[in-house]
Amino acid sequence: MKTRVLNNLPREGIREAAQLILQGELVAFPTETVYGLGGNALSAKCAEKIYSAKGRPSDNPLIIHIADVQWLERYAKDIPASAFQLAEAFWPGPLTLVLPKKDNVPAATTGGLDTVAIRMPDHPVALDIIRACDLPLAAPSANQSGKPSPTNSTHVLQDLDGRIAAVVDGGITRIGLESTVLDLAHGTPTILRAGAITFDNLKGFLPDLKTADKDHEHHSPGTRYRHYSPEAKVILCSNEDLDGLIDQLNLDLGKVGFIGFAKRKFNIHIPLQNSPKSYAHVIFSSLRNLDAKKVDYIIVEPISEEGIGVAVMDRLRKAASNSEF
Ligand code: TXA
Ligand code: MG
Repeated sequence: MKTRVLNNLPREGIREAAQLILQGELVAFPTETVYGLGGNALSAKCAEKIYSAKGRPSDNPLIIHIADVQWLERYAKDIPASAFQLAEAFWPGPLTLVLPKKDNVPAATTGGLDTVAIRMPDHPVALDIIRACDLPLAAPSANQSGKPSPTNSTHVLQDLDGRIAAVVDGGITRIGLESTVLDLAHGTPTILRAGAITFDNLKGFLPDLKTADKDHEHHSPGTRYRHYSPEAKVILCSNEDLDGLIDQLNLDLGKVGFIGFAKRKFNIHIPLQNSPKSYAHVIFSSLRNLDAKKVDYIIVEPISEEGIGVAVMDRLRKAASNSEF
């Protein structure tokens, strides 16, 4: 299959993307978080195609993307009042709600679970495609399973060229990390995945809110799998421990890439700003860029866990081979 690159302007790009999806094909498109790999969420066949294109285990459920808050009740049932309040406050935006599913959502889409994850993305291209299809779209991040999520259309092609019908190019995504996933289907509201909508943002609406611990893992299938890993070995290391680490591992500095905000003289160095938002914006693309330079190790400087910094550190810990941070 030849993967076409569609332009989001003029409108033909959107129309063609919708036509392909309506024919049962897969099309990647930008959202405000990362690029998604879209297909008809109401078709078990499309869900299977998505798992196969990504090389993703089919028990790791997909998020369905809607274009209007009112669509929530089409696909979810037993919806608590808090879900509507959260949707009102944060949609369109990077918050995914897990709710009991209605029968029209196939088990293939939800990885066999009786719940469904739903969000309304805050991106005109994503919303236009969903509206043009007049369907909810299942859209996991448009990367090969296990790789860092894509934040531009080139990343999508690196992983999925020849495996999907098209990608709609919409430039670089604004946030750079995937949405916050919030479970509202199993008693105490629980954050299953950290994202741009933080614990503090949600706490005002959900006084008993908690963050998933290991016991919650069966409700949060995505956490079981290897994630966000480039080819190179990722090591998290603070600036003060860096020299010790280089000595200890006897690292060949020609084969080491460094991502961080400390001023360091590495041959291959991607300097970042010490701000959680700007770190989030570029961290996945930085991992991919260093991989393209064929380094053996990528050393990443940790960031403080404030705001979206919690989500950045969650992704970095999963990418890293050391876990003391
Ligand atoms: O920002 C995002 O959420 C991006 C964009 C494209 O919208 N999508 C995304 O999808 O990150 P994906 O498939 O890469 O991650 C979805 C996460 C996984 O960890 C999955 O296990 C979890 O959401 N999830 C999906 N449905 C679920 C459900 N019914 N119950 C619990 N977790 C669920
Ligand atoms: Mg993903």
